[in-house]
Amino acid sequence: MCGIIGILGDHQAAPIMVDALRRLEYRGYDSAGIATIDGGVLDRRRAVGKLVNLADLLVTDPLPGFAGIGHTRWATHGVPSVANAHPQKAGRVAVVHNGIIENFRELRAELGGEWESETDTETVARLCEGFLDCGMDPKEAAFATIDRLRGAYALCFLFDGEPDLLIAARAGSPLAIGHGEGQMYVGSDAIALGPLTDRLTYLEEGDRAVVTRAGAQVFDAEGRQTHREMRRIRIDAARIEKAGHRHFMAKEIHEQPQTLSDVIAAYVDGDRIAPPVAYDFAATDRIQMVACGTAHIACQVAKYWFEQLARLPVEVDIASEYRYREGPVGAETTALFVSQSGETADTLAALRYAKGKARAVVSVVNVAESSIARDSDVAFPILAGVEIGVASTKAFVNQLGVLLALAIHAARQRGEIDAAREADLVATFRLLPGILAQALATEPRAEELAARLAEASDILFLGRGTMYPMAHEGALKLKEISYIHAEAYASGELKHGPIALVDRTLPVVVFAPMDALFEKTVSNMQEVMAREGQVLLVTDADGAAQASDGVWEVLVMPRVDPVFAPLVYAVPAQLLAYHTAVHKGTDVDQPRNLAKSVTVE
Ligand code: F6R
Repeated sequence: MCGIIGILGDHQAAPIMVDALRRLEYRGYDSAGIATIDGGVLDRRRAVGKLVNLADLLVTDPLPGFAGIGHTRWATHGVPSVANAHPQKAGRVAVVHNGIIENFRELRAELGGEWESETDTETVARLCEGFLDCGMDPKEAAFATIDRLRGAYALCFLFDGEPDLLIAARAGSPLAIGHGEGQMYVGSDAIALGPLTDRLTYLEEGDRAVVTRAGAQVFDAEGRQTHREMRRIRIDAARIEKAGHRHFMAKEIHEQPQTLSDVIAAYVDGDRIAPPVAYDFAATDRIQMVACGTAHIACQVAKYWFEQLARLPVEVDIASEYRYREGPVGAETTALFVSQSGETADTLAALRYAKGKARAVVSVVNVAESSIARDSDVAFPILAGVEIGVASTKAFVNQLGVLLALAIHAARQRGEIDAAREADLVATFRLLPGILAQALATEPRAEELAARLAEASDILFLGRGTMYPMAHEGALKLKEISYIHAEAYASGELKHGPIALVDRTLPVVVFAPMDALFEKTVSNMQEVMAREGQVLLVTDADGAAQASDGVWEVLVMPRVDPVFAPLVYAVPAQLLAYHTAVHKGTDVDQPRNLAKSVTVE
């Protein structure tokens, strides 16, 4: 959700910033811009659409200078246009911003006059310019500006006549300072700064930093100079390349056997589960799981695991609802937050609501340095590596892997399973990367089927038990990247309303591995077929042998213990969506209107 870069370097900054923005483009891709200082003079270039448009503009209209700020935008206030693109500028001040300034209308009314853009960010630049006019120096003016802002933001300021100064600020949106040799950087995340430096200082909530080539001085929200630890964070360059795949999403889908192996290596020891950090699930009486989007679907699956294996009651909430519902959080409740980015604004706010009320705030996160990880009492890493594709794939499977490991662990801690059952489950767990690889081998068939799904305007997904949330995942993946309308229902719920939608034009994807619920799901499938619905049955060889008659198409998955089936059925959910989108020619890695890491409400 908007990417920020800032550079005080000793080379031309524009190409370095464009390169960094390319790595940040997954955060937003409506428009992009950079500003630099050359000979003390501040100038900027901005372009609507993908970063390539800005790169092209810079070829015809270069922007020299060794210091600069850059931005890739996911529009919040104002349509994607050159005027609304960042950097926003007022007089001597240019600003890039990720987040939302909640009181910008109030500030606009106070400042009055003409506005060049519809953005909240222009207000920040105007406010700061006003303070400069009052005789403040750039640091004083930026700090006085920040004091007036309400909302969530990461900001980076550049000033005319100040080629050795950036002011950075963080409140609710992440920002890191990068330390080079005689060069300094500001960036939204380690991915942006990866090739430039591996020495990073993450700003804390409310921090402001004065950055010069000599280093950074950090001040806390009260304006006291403070020390923030510098850490070495290496981002493997290979992880942010497509490695021969057409899209990041394809690469990330194919990485899943490996990334799941990383979960097993970290959470399994011999024939038992041994998480890398300790948490006592025997001392809690329920879990409230809270997340957004695909991470929320991982929680819905985990509810089945924790309740069935560990007999531990689980409530699952969407973060944006949980945070405002102000529901009770019991003193013995574990509040558990799942997030790939660890920066999702609603999930973070929900975590802060539960903190101090719950027995403990626990998170399952991918980005170890993220706000959610840092604000948790216990943070379980999912070890998926950098995920660039906007549609989450390997992070989802690793969230499932970690949540399943924790459910087995909780079952053992609570005396619901014995060592022999744990060893059995662990033995199957160890086989899963291989089974995922077999599931991936069905890709040519999924591609064939996707060509047919691509013709539909609506698609229904059905499942029972853990396959019900997996039906949601199938529908979510499909709609976000192929733009085909898709809905998911619990198979048993169909006849209570949605069956009215079924006719011969409606493809119905049914996830039904051979398990205790198979017969029931097949009955619901028959009800669809009786109304001429076109059933695509995703099942295993046993299921296909029993229930293929009369179905439109069958996609055969490897056999797997039903407990582990969600991890395997994630693969057809992803492959069907991916190939449908490719067939339709949509922008798979950067689907319209979306951004990864949703740092606004
Ligand atoms: C869908 C997807 C989103 C995210 C959601 C939460 O493919 O990626 O639904 O799952 O925005 O993001 P995180 O996990 O970063 O909190």
